[in-house]
Amino acid sequence: MIREFEEHPLRGLNSFHADEKARRLVVFDAAEDLDHIFAPESGLGKFYVLGGGNNILFTGYFDGALLKPDIRGIHVLAEDDEAVTVEAGAAVEWDDLVAWSVERGLWGAENLSLIPGTVGAAPVQNIGAYGAEAKDVITRVHLFDTERREHGVLTAEECRFAYRDSIFKHELRGRAVITSVEFRFGKRPAPDLGYGDLQRETEARGGASLRNIREAVCAIRRGKLPDTAVLGNAGSFFKNPVVGRAEAERLAARYEGMPVYPAPDPECRKLAAGWLIDRAGMKGYRKGRAGVHDRQALVLVNFGGATGEEIMELAREVQLRVCDAFGVAIEPEVNIL
Ligand code: EPU
Repeated sequence: MIREFEEHPLRGLNSFHADEKARRLVVFDAAEDLDHIFAPESGLGKFYVLGGGNNILFTGYFDGALLKPDIRGIHVLAEDDEAVTVEAGAAVEWDDLVAWSVERGLWGAENLSLIPGTVGAAPVQNIGAYGAEAKDVITRVHLFDTERREHGVLTAEECRFAYRDSIFKHELRGRAVITSVEFRFGKRPAPDLGYGDLQRETEARGGASLRNIREAVCAIRRGKLPDTAVLGNAGSFFKNPVVGRAEAERLAARYEGMPVYPAPDPECRKLAAGWLIDRAGMKGYRKGRAGVHDRQALVLVNFGGATGEEIMELAREVQLRVCDAFGVAIEPEVNIL
């Protein structure tokens, strides 16, 4: 079924609570609906696919159609001694899928607990946390190719996943509508507690069971990240920057305790944008109705009533300050519309 709304307010459809409007909102609950929505005679024009609205900043009126998948359900496709393969609809809440897997004793998504957003959005930026990424459990992505007007499936390899990146941010940007995603969850215990406080928090709960890991991740996230229901935000606003190895070494020698992580390219290193913003003196900084979160500098927040443009102004100021202080450019992770 397709439901259409004109001049639709977006405040409740984005976690930043930006108070903008879209010319049209089109909600659909089956992949086949896309054949009608994109039929040549429909004259759809400019469109954007909206998931949970957790990784987006609307900076003004959206003069086009926002497409919102409402495809739900988690179905087991196959099972063997090692693993279970499931397909989840694009509109399933990501954390509902994680809870579903943990309740059934299935491994692979527990470190990704409590990440806000939908299943359909997860492959786009290859969501990640605590050493895990969605690509570790995704096997196939079902989509509608809006240029060819046909349904298709991509394997995980074809999705070209990387840190907060995939084909959906490049060749298929503005072209693919993800309708469902297939995952493979393992049956054998495979705890991955290497990141930050996770080991300690898990042990404090009695050891590395699926439930304990999930609870530990949830507790760490709740401690650092603002609740979007209370304070508008989109999680990490910036990506952790990747710089050349020599540049990272120069900075690390100058700034004691600066986190430096490996990057896929051995000649590069990843830095912690949150640390850079913090040390640039911007943590807790407030600019009108927008600000830098006081417990995690990577997160920009809307204290209430801030427009998308006000948040962008703050973001630009943060970028400038980090660049002045360290000579490092940080880029938004959030999609700016
Ligand atoms: N740090 C500071 N000050 C801050 C924030 C961080 O000094 O205000 C330092 C921390 O002490 C740590 C380092 O920076 O040494 C990294 O911080 P943290 O472990 O909190 O992780 P992050 O790099 O800031 C990334 C993801 C998060 C994810 C965490 C945990 C990105 C852009 N962000 O943040 O993802 O939850 O790791 O894995 O990669 C999101 O994408 O929305 C998100 C929240």
